Amino acid sequence: MERLGLEQKKFYQMSRAERLEWLRSQSALSLEDMTAWSPEGGLSVERADHMIENAVGVFALPLGIAQNFIINGRKVLVPMAVEEPSVLAGVSFMARLAQAGGGFRASASAPEMIAQIQLLDLKDLNSARETILTRKPELLADLAGLHPTIEKLGGGARDLEVRLIENSPIGPFLVVHLIYDVRDVMGANAVNTAAEALALPLERLTGGRAHLRILSNLADRRLAKAEVRIPTEALAFAEYRGEQVRDGILEAWAFAAADPYRAATHNKGIMNGVDAVVIATGNDWRAAEAGAHSYAARSGRYTSLSTWTCAQDGSLAGSLELPLAVGITGGSTQSHPTARANLRLIGARTSGELAGIIAAVGLAQNLAALRALATEGIQRGHMRLHARQVAVAAGASGEEADRLAAQLAQEGAIKIERAREILDDWRKNKHD
Ligand code: MEV
Repeated sequence: MERLGLEQKKFYQMSRAERLEWLRSQSALSLEDMTAWSPEGGLSVERADHMIENAVGVFALPLGIAQNFIINGRKVLVPMAVEEPSVLAGVSFMARLAQAGGGFRASASAPEMIAQIQLLDLKDLNSARETILTRKPELLADLAGLHPTIEKLGGGARDLEVRLIENSPIGPFLVVHLIYDVRDVMGANAVNTAAEALALPLERLTGGRAHLRILSNLADRRLAKAEVRIPTEALAFAEYRGEQVRDGILEAWAFAAADPYRAATHNKGIMNGVDAVVIATGNDWRAAEAGAHSYAARSGRYTSLSTWTCAQDGSLAGSLELPLAVGITGGSTQSHPTARANLRLIGARTSGELAGIIAAVGLAQNLAALRALATEGIQRGHMRLHARQVAVAAGASGEEADRLAAQLAQEGAIKIERAREILDDWRKNKHD
């Protein structure tokens, strides 16, 4: 069989060593940086022991690199940590389809976090609210100097809002929202410290009792957005016409838009992509999950995080907006060697740029699921990929693995013994 050079091979057809070599040629990473992707170079047990309590070891996940992403005109190689098969293949394929429409456009609002201070035991809620709003400039000014690094980069306390919680099991009370721009860090520590620092001045000012002082994961001031347009021709495959695939995707989206049972699964598919990048970059995926799902329910009814429509020119237009509190510096983005290497690979210059990239990955992942569900169903693709894994496990590589996988899928017997048998046959015939 003719051997392909690196430039002619698809990333998935390469051996791991070839993938590393190719990534070295395509990114700022050296082969030494990439040792962070092996157990020896990744998170050490010693470092883990400094990160959490009661540490006994580290827990590994597969890490893959999603291909074909063009985001705001820039080619981005996206590291994804995920245990689920098909996620990387699906997202990379959709990113390739998106290239036909110029790739993804992504953006993010200012990295403003919200911290909540619960004010109890107030005699007069309305006058306490007025007092806080009148004294807002001093209260905010008091927070100056709290986080010099963030402030030097242009971040810091931005605003105070006061909300009246009328219906609660303990009766009405006030909540003060501190809006704090955390620049390029995830910001949980920074904003929690700021909330705690504001508690005493609020108590003195209002005569109330500052109870909880903690950030809100419904980070709806820190939104990331991604958009994509796919020409219908690019959607056609096998016996499916482009218009048919587009309309099938619109019907699938309508289901998620209208029904919370479907929306939960639809959004889970989006989070397959989002979480995988959030984890790979050392960010807090529970925060991303909490933010996404609470944002999906912001109207009072849980619904789809993405929107799919038919554009005027007939192409499929998709968009995704969700809160994303992710950083490119600080915390485990720096202390975890693999996260550090992954962030270098992505090359985002700000936390907002990273958030936009993550939103683009979520949108592509959503499209992969909808396209499969609206056409041949999800299992056929899974089976094709499973067949390829079995082919590789049987000892095939490159084009041989593709051919073997196709034969296994066609025979409907995706078993390692059968894969070895076919492979032995081929190799024997070649030498006869
Ligand atoms: C599986 O991990 C994700 C999907 O269920 C998403 C969806 O149904 O949209 C395929």
